[in-house]
Amino acid sequence: MRFAYYTLAFVVVLLLSVMGYRGMISTRPPIEMFPDMDHQAKYKPQAESKFFADGRADRPLPAGTVPFGRDALRADPAFLKADDFHYDGKLPDGTFGRGFPAGLAITGAFIERGQGRYQIYCAPCHGALGDGNGITKSYGMLTTPTYHDDRLRGMAEGEIFNTITHGKNTMLSYADKLSPDDRWAVVAYVRALQRAAHGTIQDVPAELQGGLK
Ligand code: HEC
Repeated sequence: MRFAYYTLAFVVVLLLSVMGYRGMISTRPPIEMFPDMDHQAKYKPQAESKFFADGRADRPLPAGTVPFGRDALRADPAFLKADDFHYDGKLPDGTFGRGFPAGLAITGAFIERGQGRYQIYCAPCHGALGDGNGITKSYGMLTTPTYHDDRLRGMAEGEIFNTITHGKNTMLSYADKLSPDDRWAVVAYVRALQRAAHGTIQDVPAELQGGLK
């Protein structure tokens, strides 16, 4: 019998404590059973830091990283100074431009940079030769085009840049993986692939032709 009283008292206290607070709003922080890392040592954006010598909690981007998204790019001072052709592949009238931005030197090293990026990001679908026969073809990606038809050979460099930036249908955007300059390097390498696919023995320096025949 004694237990019945205890149980009754327990139930009454439980009910009162649960129901009694219904509808009461408190400004005090809730009692946390599972804090789930709510409280942690962290910096808030644009706050001060005593740790870093320059006193800023916001850290500058490490060299070589690619800012993600358009807004991040716009925050880059180089972007603000830049022309639309360099960053969009477009001329002031909105059409795609031909050639390469004036600020870029199209050197062997630049094309090699494009080759490396191409082999990482494009070759799985477009193939090492740009003929559209990458490894993904055998897994069902059948719409990858070859670069060697007249349409893509005649396409403005700015439009290829735009395709890399925004993607097209089943091809996704590579803007978060390739900086604008790297995208131009890939465009230069696509041009090199196209040139190579339509080359003749006459394009090879005379002293090297013997080894090819
Ligand atoms: C996941 C596979 C895949 C990867 C990786 C890929 N592409 Fe594509 N790409 C496609 C497909 C599929 C199309 C055809 C899109 C369409 O027109 O439907 C295409 C189309 C293109 C076109 C033609 C666009 C047009 O207007 O017809 C170009 C140029 C191109 N890709 C360049 C690249 C470059 C450069 C890279 C590397 C940065 C790349 N692609 C990476 C699948 C891929």
